[in-house]
Amino acid sequence: MTWSLQPATTEDRQTLVDLYLALLMHLAEFDAAVTATDAAAQWWVDHVFLPAAGRGEPVLIAREPAGPAIGGIFWPVGPQPGPKIAFGYGTYVVPGWRRKGVGAALREAALLRLKGIGASLLVGCAHLNNEPGRQSLLSFGMMPAATLYYLKL
Ligand SMILES: CC(C)(COP(=O)(O)OP(=O)(O)OC[C@H]1O[C@@H](n2cnc3c(N)ncnc32)[C@H](O)[C@@H]1OP(=O)(O)O)[C@@H](O)C(=O)NCCC(=O)NCCS
Repeated sequence: MTWSLQPATTEDRQTLVDLYLALLMHLAEFDAAVTATDAAAQWWVDHVFLPAAGRGEPVLIAREPAGPAIGGIFWPVGPQPGPKIAFGYGTYVVPGWRRKGVGAALREAALLRLKGIGASLLVGCAHLNNEPGRQSLLSFGMMPAATLYYLKL
């Protein structure tokens, strides 16, 4: 393995913004409801992902040895009372690094972290025509449970 995984810290803010914006831009190709702007990515990083990382929840970055980020995973736990439910906002691997196990390693590390903090459920979604996204969720045992409906106004 020529890369490693680390939990995100405040020093990684710009890296997280870049990775999450790239993910949003990718998802916007499938879904008119996705707001893929730098401002949106910054909001999610500052208000959701960095606070979650600070609580030990899985917001992780994969890096090459020299430092460039090659992927990230965004799986914070919801703030609601009751059982801890993690929300899979997505996994992103930069195009040149796909199909080399980076996404699977990020997910394995994130699952370990979720189990370690006592989370009981992971909820995520993949667009029906995002085949890599769908297959990668199925590949570690996630079960399809619903169809999302939308109406463009
Ligand atoms: C989805 C994504 C994160 C997968 O990352 P990755 O590092 O390429 O995935 P891995 O190499 O670890 O593959 C893990 C498993 O996912 C599935 N998978 C990944 N890419 C796939 C593809 N192009 N076609 C079919 N299955 C795929 C396979 O089951 C694979 O296991 P295998 O290699 O043993 O067959 C990556 O394609 C990506 O960043 N896509 C753009 C963002 C995105 O759509 N994220 C998911 C939102 S739900």
